[in-house]
Amino acid sequence: MSFFNHLEMLPPDPIFGLVKAFQEDKNPNKADLTVGIYYNEDLKPEVLKVVKEAEKALVDLEKTKTYLPIDGDQFYLEGTLKLLFGEDLASSEGYRTYCAQSVGGTGALRVVAQTLKEFVTDEIYIPAPTWPNHLKVFKSAGLEVKTYPYYNNKSHQIEFEEMLKTISKIKEGSAILFHGCCHNPTGKDPTKQQWEELSKLILEKKLIPVFDVAYQGFGESLDEDAWAVRHFVKAGHELFACYSYSKIFGLYAERVGAVFAVTSDEKTKKILATNVKPLIRGNYSNPPKHGASIVSYVLHHEILSKSWRQELELMRVRIVNIRNEFSKLMQEKCPDRDYRYIDSLKGLFCLTGLSKEQVLKVIEDYGVYMTYGGRINLTGLNHDNIEYVTDSISKVLKQKD
Ligand SMILES: Cc1ncc(COP(=O)(O)O)c(C=O)c1O
Repeated sequence: MSFFNHLEMLPPDPIFGLVKAFQEDKNPNKADLTVGIYYNEDLKPEVLKVVKEAEKALVDLEKTKTYLPIDGDQFYLEGTLKLLFGEDLASSEGYRTYCAQSVGGTGALRVVAQTLKEFVTDEIYIPAPTWPNHLKVFKSAGLEVKTYPYYNNKSHQIEFEEMLKTISKIKEGSAILFHGCCHNPTGKDPTKQQWEELSKLILEKKLIPVFDVAYQGFGESLDEDAWAVRHFVKAGHELFACYSYSKIFGLYAERVGAVFAVTSDEKTKKILATNVKPLIRGNYSNPPKHGASIVSYVLHHEILSKSWRQELELMRVRIVNIRNEFSKLMQEKCPDRDYRYIDSLKGLFCLTGLSKEQVLKVIEDYGVYMTYGGRINLTGLNHDNIEYVTDSISKVLKQKD
């Protein structure tokens, strides 16, 4: 007898399940393009040099391991707000922005989901497609999750007209999620002009935007990648931004993130803070310290902050170069298809155009692992495996043709 007899066996997580299958695969040429982790040219998920430096310094500096406040380390949050908003906007709009440290970007999304559900709305619209965990996080907070059209897998363009049409029919007061930059999984972001149109429509329809920012600096630059969020703040929206340092500081396992709630005025911010804090307290009580201390130390240290920006830029350049190489090789190997669209995408990911059946085939026959939607992490490629991977993908594409 067991209290759990009524449960059925469920399939593994679509992304982390594939990692396990990859580890068990005996194919000597296997390639892991699945999880959103930045790998260097040797395909290693290294600890950043500035992180090591900060950790060394913190060993001596840290005097206590007592709890952080419920909404975290304010010094860390100040640095993060400046990074996302830029110095000027952080100082002009900080008075109406509630900031809370979170357990990674996912934890930020969860706090926002619960805040929306308790105080604002029962529904949120997410792009189709999106990072699959958005659905789980929002549903687990009790929100009804609906989608808006985002990306056309054939034209490789944003379905902007369809998107506007759907958004214009959304019920007033609902929430809508956007990827601040480097859209996961498509790599396709709206243009500045499109963001401006979206901002206007969302103000007009009285929707509350939620920005998910997990890749600032992986697209064009720290400032350019924050353009959309900054534009919405300047345009006068109340909004949420969920921030993650997992990728851009390589602090995946340390769970470092932040929630920003831009409200209408200072009084509202203070009232909101008193309402969000009990949600955090009843959830994980207060956030973990180590990762946020590292980030805070680096951001506030003149030399390390510069070094981090250089390390981040090196990561970004590697992504751009390997993306261009991938696009060129795919174009050579599949001349009937158009792979030039990949050049203009941003961030870690792109969609290969493989169907789920083709993905299963490329995994089984060639040991090339990617998500079932055909998304690849470009940094799983390097000069040693890119020929093999592009050969494998093109062979599978041709079988179907
Ligand atoms: C779009 C997006 N949002 C949020 C996250 C979550 O980040 P974290 O690992 O900090 O929870 C990810 C991670 O892959 C992501 O791709």
